[in-house]
Amino acid sequence: MTDGLIGVRVLRTRKLAEEIAAIELAREDGEPLPSFTAGSHIDVHLGSGLIRQYSLWNDPSGADRYCLGVLREEPGRGGSHAVHKLQSGSRLSISPPRNRFELAPDTGDSLLLAGGIGITPILCMVQVLHARGAEFELHYCARSPGRMAFRDLLMNSDFAERVHLHFDDGPDEQKLDIPSIARAHRPGRHLYVCGPAGFMDAVLEAAASTWPSDTMHKEHFTLDAEPSDSEDRAFRVRVASTGEELEVPADRSVVETLAGIGIEIPTSCEQGICGTCITGVLEGTPDHRDYVLTEEEHAANDQMTVCCSRALSDLIVLDL
Ligand code: FES
Repeated sequence: MTDGLIGVRVLRTRKLAEEIAAIELAREDGEPLPSFTAGSHIDVHLGSGLIRQYSLWNDPSGADRYCLGVLREEPGRGGSHAVHKLQSGSRLSISPPRNRFELAPDTGDSLLLAGGIGITPILCMVQVLHARGAEFELHYCARSPGRMAFRDLLMNSDFAERVHLHFDDGPDEQKLDIPSIARAHRPGRHLYVCGPAGFMDAVLEAAASTWPSDTMHKEHFTLDAEPSDSEDRAFRVRVASTGEELEVPADRSVVETLAGIGIEIPTSCEQGICGTCITGVLEGTPDHRDYVLTEEEHAANDQMTVCCSRALSDLIVLDL
């Protein structure tokens, strides 16, 4: 087992909705899994170098397993198809849980918005909020009832009256009223959103006029977002500890360039989603192309995802 990875076996798989499967994992050696918090995800190593990130949707309190909900993507990059082929008893390795989408420490009153399979971290959150006795409201959008995972679980829950379902193929009056998101802000309230890029952009754009940025929390679950339109250009990178400096060509990433001189930076998604490769920046201005750092973290320019982000300045000095 590679350092830090956990050997797990699939306890069971089941269909949650059209093209969506639930996968339950437990440790292969029978020991308890590391605890996790709402909004966490794990890396799932699927063999042949395929690594994908999936959020945990089950209630974290006393959890003896990790539960994933995975949409088979068409066309996909292969990961979701490999997950859908897993069967009870299959063995694989995973990373410990990481969380880049945490509930704010002062979260009491919350508005949660989920689009499609973006429900997975949000479902975990609402279970925690309910257990805390916190005020919350969930809006969950899907293309159709048949493509909505966890519909029965939500509608049979003790908090069903706080759940609002919206279907793309249903009448207009039940569709999510995006402009109302701006009006839904009140002091102390936090907003959490996860879903496809278009859904998240619409929600965050509507919210931006009234919700302070530190009350808006988001997680991209897939890279169907528009790629950065900044042009790729070469720049120089310096390793602070050794002073070594080298050029990052326009067609190579910082990670690839540093690997060429024997500096291996751990990566996972290589697309700016998971945060595994975040590295401190001591000098220079990064050209942030990730979906994992917050607006404030981008503005601070003291860290970057070196798998995909580049530099606006001619030189970037990394805290390595
Ligand atoms: Fe996932 Fe860089 S490896 S953000």
